[in-house]
Amino acid sequence: MLRRGLAAVVLVFAGAVVASLPSASAHDDKGPIVIGHRGASAYRPEHTLAAYELAARMGADFIEPDLVPTKDGKLVARHENEIGGTTNVADKTQFADRKKTKTIDGVAVTGWFTEDFTLAELKTLRAKERIPAIRPRNTLYDGRFEIPTLQEVIDLSKRLSRELHREIGIYPETKHPTYFQSIGLALEPKLVDTLNRNGLNRSSAKVFVQSFEVANLKELNRSLRVPIVQLVNASGAPYDFIAAGDKRTYADLVTPAGLREVRSYADGVGLTKDIIIPRDAGGFLKAPTTVVKDAHKVGLIVHSWTFRNENSFLPADFRSSTDPAAYGRAFEEYDLFFKQGIDGVFADNPDTAVEAKVKR
Ligand code: G3P
Ligand code: CA
Repeated sequence: MLRRGLAAVVLVFAGAVVASLPSASAHDDKGPIVIGHRGASAYRPEHTLAAYELAARMGADFIEPDLVPTKDGKLVARHENEIGGTTNVADKTQFADRKKTKTIDGVAVTGWFTEDFTLAELKTLRAKERIPAIRPRNTLYDGRFEIPTLQEVIDLSKRLSRELHREIGIYPETKHPTYFQSIGLALEPKLVDTLNRNGLNRSSAKVFVQSFEVANLKELNRSLRVPIVQLVNASGAPYDFIAAGDKRTYADLVTPAGLREVRSYADGVGLTKDIIIPRDAGGFLKAPTTVVKDAHKVGLIVHSWTFRNENSFLPADFRSSTDPAAYGRAFEEYDLFFKQGIDGVFADNPDTAVEAKVKR
């Protein structure tokens, strides 16, 4: 965890000049950061090098790999350890017998799991679009890209930083930490090792580490010098709390007292948008909460997720039609959330986020 004020954190992690962004000629080096959520996942299958590269070229300050392990202990970028929805594994007859039903964080999941494949085996697969009904154009790229390792994501960020003359940060997330610890494939030592090996475990590195669980962030905070971000969902509880019989929920983490406790091991909170501005049953926005102000008061930065252009994900206030895949009035959503004082956005359309930020 970094022990310094909000302004300094924002200053250190801000970007410089965008080299190849058609819609914004100048990159704003103040204000909220733009995190390419799973890459530029509105335009390419998520968690592929192609998606990350496009995000950086669109002006994202950070690229975000969600991390899960392989059978042989390598960290790879996938939103879930179940890979039936985002790869062609189901088409591979040689892997038919790897299909299983497992309980992940208390939920039964059927499919193929990264922890049952070596890295060499995973490398024979190809990524595909997760939500083809919403993003049919992305299916053009199905079958083209490998599952990347964390090391490959870091290598890409370094190469693009040199080419674009601005530092592209990484924002890794540990997925299902309690589950992976329970099967002997803990993510945390591998992540710390990888950051150490790449010279990224230092306070000036452009890196954030995030998790939906608490205990693993407290552990990581003892080994890492980079900022730690506690992810907070709109409902439920961190799974490590559930597993330990701790009755606290995510809602308890964002009370003033909860935020003070988070500040003891983290530098920021990653809040789902609904915690900042809740929606009613019809999907319309209600009054903003005080959570951004409360978090800032205790010295936590606030990043929010997930900003996407399609009606399907926008508040009803900003939808353009009943077509879930059509773009709505995304700039109005960005404007509203920027006005709340947030310090960064996870965006599937990083170009839209940069444009909104530059013109805010
Ligand atoms: O990590 C921020 C945001 O990505 C959390 O949601 O489910 O997309 O990983 P998810
Ligand atoms: Ca994530």
